[in-house]
Amino acid sequence: MVIKNVCCIGAGYVGGPTCSVIAWKCPDLRVTVVDKSEMRINQWNSDKLPIYEPGLDEVVMECRGRNLFFSLDIDTAIRDADLIFISVNTPTKTYGVGKGRAADLKFVESCSRKIAQVATGPKIVVEKSTVPVRAAESIINILTANTRPGISFQVLSNPEFLSEGTAIEDLLNPDRVLIGGEESEGGAKAIEELSWIYQHWIPAKKILTTNTWSSELSKLASNAFLAQRVSSINAISAVCEATGADVSQVAEAVGHDSRVGPKFLQASVGFGGSCFQKDLLNLVYIAECLNLPEVANYWQQVINMNEYQRSRFAKRIVECLFNSVTDKPLAVFGFAFKKNTGDTRESPAMYVCSHLLEEGAHLNIYDPKVAPDQILQDLTSAAMTSEPERVKRLITICDDPYEAVKEAHAIVILTEWDEFKSYDYNKMLLQMKRPAFVFDGRRILNHSALIDLGYHVETIGKRFTRNALVRNAATRQHWHRLQRQKVARNNIHHIMH
Ligand code: UDX
Ligand code: UDX
Repeated sequence: MVIKNVCCIGAGYVGGPTCSVIAWKCPDLRVTVVDKSEMRINQWNSDKLPIYEPGLDEVVMECRGRNLFFSLDIDTAIRDADLIFISVNTPTKTYGVGKGRAADLKFVESCSRKIAQVATGPKIVVEKSTVPVRAAESIINILTANTRPGISFQVLSNPEFLSEGTAIEDLLNPDRVLIGGEESEGGAKAIEELSWIYQHWIPAKKILTTNTWSSELSKLASNAFLAQRVSSINAISAVCEATGADVSQVAEAVGHDSRVGPKFLQASVGFGGSCFQKDLLNLVYIAECLNLPEVANYWQQVINMNEYQRSRFAKRIVECLFNSVTDKPLAVFGFAFKKNTGDTRESPAMYVCSHLLEEGAHLNIYDPKVAPDQILQDLTSAAMTSEPERVKRLITICDDPYEAVKEAHAIVILTEWDEFKSYDYNKMLLQMKRPAFVFDGRRILNHSALIDLGYHVETIGKRFTRNALVRNAATRQHWHRLQRQKVARNNIHHIMH
């Protein structure tokens, strides 16, 4: 089979960017991305794409209408395709057996049934969605049980390792591409066909091939390992705060060991995103089902540590603000789960904000990319509050950070957007209530400069020494002196003119 037509079911964060890059790098392929959501497809066909991803607009604009198409006609796209990616979401189950932990495969299953129903020739079906180990077995069973006689399928696992915010870069230059398939002649052939697509731009030595189950498990394991590193450094951050160590110094010292490496050691208010928690829960559930309780408990602890980190930070804000935030305006900078994305799924910001709202704080929230409706929807969802109307009254979504700080008692940094580093914090301080606090949940600001300006600064993994606080008090007195001098100068200026 020579692949000419590729279809992708699911035009989300994974399917959209992945297939856009495939179309860009493989002009000899016709790539059609389909989705059941009319709104999503209309957005992909408009000037404002449904997701924000640096570099994505350029790729889509170049290929759309040439060899990249976004369509609602799922049946035709499946029928015409030689190879079909399944990129639908696999959320954590919210009902029945495995509720709150297992991955919900109902969308993957309905896609498989649809493929079986409309296919008129052989297809390679590729799992892109993250799935539990042995999900490919269910897909092949559904396909073979429901299709016309004589039509053959090969199911491959080809998990996506792209990271939001750098998706295009990750797709163009991945550390590896992983393809798992059946250990048979047909399986090997299918792996070869999919490899051929990636080899349009990725060196063959970066394409790893395994059996299907190893590939499925490697995806879960990769995310679990990454999440575990974040939880490990976050656990150390709590020790730092209690001892006077500085977590970034510890992370640097630990990361210099080439066996550990420096990446994913940035202490934070907790990890978020659509994958880490979901995949960890999935792994825990699989381990339990396999009667491996020690393994399940081990990975569960990575999630527990993340919850602890989020709530620890929220509690610290309340404590520092004299044990009460009721009716106090607080400026929140950042709502996305990380910088350079508008995605808020499992964002730690949502949990911290929810805790503060529970305490009665008024939140002025600013994020450069998250849509205001999304923030409202997240914070008023049933998972976050039982009092959506009350929460709505406590939230103001701002489109200017300088608006957000007016009369605020504190600035709370919850996403590491670069622009937060370049604000005029002196100008902001003049608008804020005193004492003015900065709670840096991402460790991105220049803390000593903020202390010198007169802020009280709290961050993850570091307690500021008494010296810094004394300096802070002295600086405050200096600041008040400067203000008095400024007023006096202005008065003289008025008198003279
Ligand atoms: C992906 C993966 O596929 C998931 O397994 C991974 O763990 C997280 O990332 P993502 O692309 O982020 O999911 O999901 P989302 O942005 O929600 O996109 C899924 C799309 O599939 C949605 O646009 C949805 O409308 C579409 N869909 C879902 C269908 O077209 N048909 C369905 O039956 C179900
Ligand atoms: C992750 C994986 O990296 C990717 O390979 C997989 O395909 C999908 O899941 P993503 O969730 O998009 O990607 O973002 P990632 O960069 O991994 O960050 C996840 C979370 O961890 C974010 O909330 C981020 O802020 C946090 N994080 C990351 C830290 O708190 N500290 C770090 O050092 C790194």
